[in-house]
Amino acid sequence: MRKQLIAANWKMYKTILETKDFIDKFLILIKSVNINNREIVLCPPFTSLYVASEMLKNTNIKLGAQNMYIEEKGAFTGEISPVMIKELNCEYVILGHSERRKYFNETDEFINKKMLMALKYGLIPIVCIGETLQEREENKTFEVLKYQVENSLANLTHEQAAKIVIAYEPVWAIGTGKNATPQQAEEAQSFIREVYANMYGKDVAERIRILYGGSIKPENFKEIISQKNVDGGLVGGASLDPESFFKICCV
Ligand code: PGA
Repeated sequence: MRKQLIAANWKMYKTILETKDFIDKFLILIKSVNINNREIVLCPPFTSLYVASEMLKNTNIKLGAQNMYIEEKGAFTGEISPVMIKELNCEYVILGHSERRKYFNETDEFINKKMLMALKYGLIPIVCIGETLQEREENKTFEVLKYQVENSLANLTHEQAAKIVIAYEPVWAIGTGKNATPQQAEEAQSFIREVYANMYGKDVAERIRILYGGSIKPENFKEIISQKNVDGGLVGGASLDPESFFKICCV
């Protein structure tokens, strides 16, 4: 059985004060229910990781970073290493988000290096893939997903391959209010699992979690997460408000 995972991707939102305010409110809400069957992860900006890590101690809410560099340390001005985020109690790191691919020219090969480094330092990578609107309209969705899986997720040992998390985020659904239908998500995600099974075997592919991301809201998530190959969600906009993220965690 795969444990469902719901992760909040705050992107470049929330100062330290806003982070404190969110976590104060979110902890009150989440303590009122008993969610043992799902992992919940907050991924704030780097500057909020320390305060978040202090506030989440002794809770079962986990912490993740939104990015990292491919070296442990060195002359890489402006970058953050896996060791640094691990020190802040991050268990997860989002890699290869479509915004990183688009604005920072990250390629599948580069994302692959990051993923290997993350695993080396004991972090669980949440590797994002997904087609653009144009690619979908040109019927290239499966081709694109296959390429991304085969290249960004290459070179793993079987043990490593069983640990990672994939997030299927169709680019046309991110921040647009236009989520993929549950059927579209299931179709893409069962395909992703199949490609992964061809790389690392069916057993390994059945163990990993594949999240859906793109305009998740409390109202649309129940049907999406009920799909066989949807093991959770990566939530952007709707994770910025404690009540709406709480509702998503509880659907
Ligand atoms: P969204 O973002 O929920 O605002 O569409 C999802 C993401 O980018 O991870």
